[in-house]
Amino acid sequence: MAIRNIIQLGDPTLRKRSFEITDFGEKTHQLLNDMKETLIKAEGAGLAAPQVGVLRRAFVVSVDGQYYECINPEIVKKSGKQTDNEGCLSVKGKYGLVERPMKVTVKAFDRYGKPFTVKAEGFLARAFCHENDHLDGIIYVDKALELKED
Ligand code: CO
Repeated sequence: MAIRNIIQLGDPTLRKRSFEITDFGEKTHQLLNDMKETLIKAEGAGLAAPQVGVLRRAFVVSVDGQYYECINPEIVKKSGKQTDNEGCLSVKGKYGLVERPMKVTVKAFDRYGKPFTVKAEGFLARAFCHENDHLDGIIYVDKALELKED
């Protein structure tokens, strides 16, 4: 495993749409392993592949001791609303209020290409929405009601 560099807002890669993953082999496993290590080191709640410069549809999330790897994810259901502070490992030193659904259902594939569904609410739902946005080049600052310095 290796720590990868987390690119910062202003890098055009963060604004591109990521491509579907079709390879569920060693290269993708290496990417996911590196993303996990990078996320833990950065003490973040989530990390998407484009944040390490890889335009592939994958993200990892670590919330309340639960760890998720989502490949080619889709948010298939959203309900309710929550507004809370959000930050991003690619936007250092800032945070902002963002409205998100209170509950989401995410369909995705695991690293072996097996489909799964996960239901989330509260902060975990927020993390899934935030990371999923990265795969379409959307950063939370685009949605923040106000942006503050950390
Ligand atoms: Co982010």
